[in-house]
Amino acid sequence: MGKAIVIYNTRSGNTKKVATKIAEGLGAELVSYKEIPDLKKYDLMVFGTWLIMSTISPAGKKFMKKLDSAAIKGKNVALFITAGGPELPMKKKVTEILQKDIAFTRMEEILEAKGQRSSKNDCDSSCL
Ligand SMILES: Cc1cc2nc3c(=O)[nH]c(=O)nc-3n(C[C@H](O)[C@H](O)[C@H](O)COP(=O)(O)O)c2cc1C
Repeated sequence: MGKAIVIYNTRSGNTKKVATKIAEGLGAELVSYKEIPDLKKYDLMVFGTWLIMSTISPAGKKFMKKLDSAAIKGKNVALFITAGGPELPMKKKVTEILQKDIAFTRMEEILEAKGQRSSKNDCDSSCL
């Protein structure tokens, strides 16, 4: 595998914790969204942010929109979001699933606007 980087946006630390584990697993560099290097040298980029009011955090949305289109076009990209709240178990499960889908869709839309192919287009029933 070529060079990999994990870029995260966090408020209370959860997303950083997950990003750290992913970076350890991949042997990837780990950076905050505030210190994104030139992304052209990376083959795999992982972007992580957190859910606020059912969508991606404003800072997460902002850094993804600012990403260098030329650097990410055609590259392997993965997304993750941390979420959760004090809701009742069933309600929490349902809202988390719905909210994550909306948030992922927004993240994918931002990347697709930059020329990145969405993974959902590559996925058929063998992905399930
Ligand atoms: C103001 C605020 C709004 C949030 N809204 C949601 C939400 O709508 N749905 C949800 O599942 N979690 C929500 N959360 C929970 C966070 O997404 C969750 O704690 C996340 O892991 C925080 O990431 P961080 O620790 O990296 O900042 C909210 C948290 C805060 C502080």
